[in-house]
Amino acid sequence: MYNPAQDRYTNMKYRHAGTSGLKLPIIALGFWHNFGDEHKYEMVREMVLYAFDKGIVHFDLANNYGLPDGSAESNLGKIIKYDLKPYRDQLVISTKAGFYMWPGPYGDGGSRKYLLSSLDQSLLRMGLDYVDIFYSHRYDPDTPLIETMGALADAVRMGKALYVGLSNYPDSKLKEAVSILDGLGIKPVLYQPHYSLLDQGVRQEGSIEYCRKSGIGVIPFSIFNQGLLTGKYLTGIPKDSRMADPRNPFLDKNQLNETLNDKLTKFHELAKTLDQSMTALTLKAVLNEPGITSALVGVSRLEQLKELVEIVHDYELDDNTMKQIIDIFE
Ligand SMILES: NC(=O)c1ccc[n+]([C@@H]2O[C@H](COP(=O)([O-])OP(=O)(O)OC[C@H]3O[C@@H](n4cnc5c(N)ncnc54)[C@H](OP(=O)(O)O)[C@@H]3O)[C@@H](O)[C@H]2O)c1
Repeated sequence: MYNPAQDRYTNMKYRHAGTSGLKLPIIALGFWHNFGDEHKYEMVREMVLYAFDKGIVHFDLANNYGLPDGSAESNLGKIIKYDLKPYRDQLVISTKAGFYMWPGPYGDGGSRKYLLSSLDQSLLRMGLDYVDIFYSHRYDPDTPLIETMGALADAVRMGKALYVGLSNYPDSKLKEAVSILDGLGIKPVLYQPHYSLLDQGVRQEGSIEYCRKSGIGVIPFSIFNQGLLTGKYLTGIPKDSRMADPRNPFLDKNQLNETLNDKLTKFHELAKTLDQSMTALTLKAVLNEPGITSALVGVSRLEQLKELVEIVHDYELDDNTMKQIIDIFE
C-alpha cells in the first residue's frame, strides 16, 4: 500500500494562480509524453507518486495525451484508484479538449458538443467526479467564442470542473474570451501558452503581462523546448531522447541548425560560468519571469524529475543573470 511522505509539503513552494484562492506548486507535472501506454505502467506510477511525495500536487493532462490518445488519463485513473484515492482533495488535476480526439464532426475544435462530451470521457477514464481545471485546449476559429466559453462555464455549473483555463489562444482572442467569461461570472484561473527562452512570443505580444494585470495565473508549457534547452542535443541526438523516438512527430531534427546551435552553445558557456546546468538555468529563468505562476514540466524518467525538484528548492536568479540569459535568446 502506498504511504505518502509525511514531509511532502515541507520544501515545495506554492503560489496563488493569479488573484484566485488556488495555490499551485511552482512546478506541475505534464502527462503529454511518457505517461500513457508508450511507457511501462510501473514507471509512470513511480514518477507520479514521487511527484506527490515532493509536493507536486498539480498534474496536467488532456484528453489526447499518451499513446494511444487517452491512455495518460487512464493510467492516472489507475494510480488514483489504487494509490491516490485517499488524497484526491490534495490534488489539482487538469484536463483539456480542443485538438483532434475522435473521428467525425464532434471530436475536434471548440464546440459545446465536443467539449462537454470529451470532459465526460476524461472523467470516466480517470475515475473522477470532477476535474480541478478544465481547459479549452486551443482557440477554434470555426466556433463562436461565446459557445466555447459557455461550455467551460457550464462545466463549472454542472460541478464537473472547479475552475476553467485557456490554452494556445492568440492574444486578441484571449482577451475576448476572458471578457466573455467575465460576463458569465467566471474568471479563468490559468492561461497555458507555449513559452520558453527560445520562443518568447507570448511575453513579447503582451499576453503574460495582460494575465498578470487581469489576475489570471500563467503556466507555460514546453519550457525546455521538449529537451532542446537541457543541452542534450549539443553534440548530436542521444538514442534515448525524444528527438530520436520515431513515434514523436513533434520535435523536428531540422531545428538543429547553425542559429540554434549558436544560441545553445552560448547558453551552455554561460551555464558553465555560473556553475549550473542548462536545465537549471532554463527552469529558474521561467520561474523568475513576472506573472508566471508555475512551470509545467515533462520528464521521461524519474532521475529527471528528481533533478528538477532539487532545482526548484533554490530557484531565485538575480537581475544580472536574468539579463545575461535573456540577451542570448532575444
Ligand atoms: N497546452 C498545450 O497545448 C500543451 C502542449 C505541449 C505540452 N503541454 C504540457 O506541458 C508538458 C510539458 O511539455 P513537454 O514535455 O513538451 O516539454 P518540456 O518540459 O519542454 O520537455 C520535456 C523533456 O525535456 C527533457 N528533460 C526534462 N527534464 C530533464 C532533465 N532533468 N534532464 C534532462 N532532460 C530533461 C526530457 O527529454 P527526453 O524525453 O529526451 O528525455 C523531457 O521529456 C506536457 O506534458 C503537457 O502537460 C501542453
